Amino acid sequence: MAKDTLTVTDNRTGRTYELPVEHGTIRAADLRQIKVGEDDFGLMSYDPAFMNTASTKSAITYIDGDRGILEYRGYPIDQLAEHATFLETAYLLLFGELPTRAALDEFTHAITHHTMVHENIREFIDAFRYDAHPMGILVGTVGALSTFYPDAKEVDDAETRKLQMTRLIAKMPTLAAYAYRHRRGLPNAYPDNDLSYSGNFLNMLFKMTEVKYTPNPVIEKALDVLFILHADHEQNCSTSAMRGVGSSRVDPFSATAAACAALYGPLHGGANEAVVRMLNEIGSVKNIGSYVERAKKGEVRLMGFGHRVYKNYDPRAKVIKKLAYQVFDEVGKNPLIDIAVALEKIALEDEYFVQRKLYPNVDFYSGLIYQSMGLPMDIFPVLFAIGRTPGWLAQWDEMINDREQKIARPRQVYLGSSRRDYVPLSDR
Ligand code: SDX
Repeated sequence: MAKDTLTVTDNRTGRTYELPVEHGTIRAADLRQIKVGEDDFGLMSYDPAFMNTASTKSAITYIDGDRGILEYRGYPIDQLAEHATFLETAYLLLFGELPTRAALDEFTHAITHHTMVHENIREFIDAFRYDAHPMGILVGTVGALSTFYPDAKEVDDAETRKLQMTRLIAKMPTLAAYAYRHRRGLPNAYPDNDLSYSGNFLNMLFKMTEVKYTPNPVIEKALDVLFILHADHEQNCSTSAMRGVGSSRVDPFSATAAACAALYGPLHGGANEAVVRMLNEIGSVKNIGSYVERAKKGEVRLMGFGHRVYKNYDPRAKVIKKLAYQVFDEVGKNPLIDIAVALEKIALEDEYFVQRKLYPNVDFYSGLIYQSMGLPMDIFPVLFAIGRTPGWLAQWDEMINDREQKIARPRQVYLGSSRRDYVPLSDR
């Protein structure tokens, strides 16, 4: 009868071992019993970049990369994008269920009343150069927030964790808007508690001399949907940073600063900015062919294409592409969309991309929307960070509560010099 085990034979010794199989995995620790002698440390698994290693069990987000499926707590991303708000989705990610009206009102009230940051943070941002990249400012200011909330160190207290998670979700848009206004040499626009989460973000970005800012409802809704689409994505690079740094039991502000730093990279959240720079470099549809040839030679990457998990069309990219045209109807068409659509078509018919299952990902079209909203390219990754904050925090909270988790500390395969004695400088 079939058993949930794996039988392996170590041909170095002829011994056979039976390893339990659970959730389609074997425990790497079960390999340690496989030795060639008593003083042998035992077998380890070797998996650079964790291409085939599960670092945790999780109940938050499910992705089927082959079928292009993404679900938050079991709810399909396209349904949440169509029917939910971002704060409703954030609540779902954090607490596991869609909120009742009363719970959503309470959560929204809490977030709304934590959007302010200490004035020292505004002064801190003023000290950055005028042309400082907003992601660099975000990494610095999120980390700095930890110095204002020493109670955040009490990571084993559930109520304290909930308060810090509320603070972080509430304050990310404020930090992002402050970084943008600093870049533009504009005075800060303070939060307006009468507005929605996304409406208030637009207020803090774009309010000028008018007494009260009124967000464009089409832009406000589009931004809210974009935040939903970016809210979580299981164990991606920045979430792994959040979990890894958080496993040392540091406060969540410091762990989130590490996650922001990981997201900053052009292979991760920085890709939405890199896509628009790439489309500008291509310049026109007639140049696409030569650019694709350069990508196939490895000279450049098609930014916004490819994914470690999705070997099908990223379901988020489908929603964003549709959303882009809705925004363009409101604010005017972004001319780069024609290059993007043509590039997608050419790439999806080219054997190089087909063979490697390289499809547009979440970053391919999002930047075109942000640009049409009047935002500068270098703030695009910051918008990704705002959306991803509830996901980072939900994953962090799950890690803190997971009795199987300990401080993250991988092993290595050492291939360096064997023991040797110090050589005095005079003898070198
Ligand atoms: C995000 O993990 C997540 O979930 C991330 C994310 C999230 O929500 O958190 O989904 C958000 O980060 C999306 C990805 C954004 N990044 C980009 O768009 C940058 C461009 N894409 C790539 O650099 C790449 O596709 C990655 C980083 C996304 C995935 O890289 P992998 O899984 O390590 O794949 P790889 O680099 O080993 O590539 C496999 C092959 C290689 O060719 P060969 O060596 O087999 O000949 O595909 C090629 C690569 O050269 N390839 C590309 C390519 N992506 C992969 N060739 C041209 N253009 C590309 N974009």
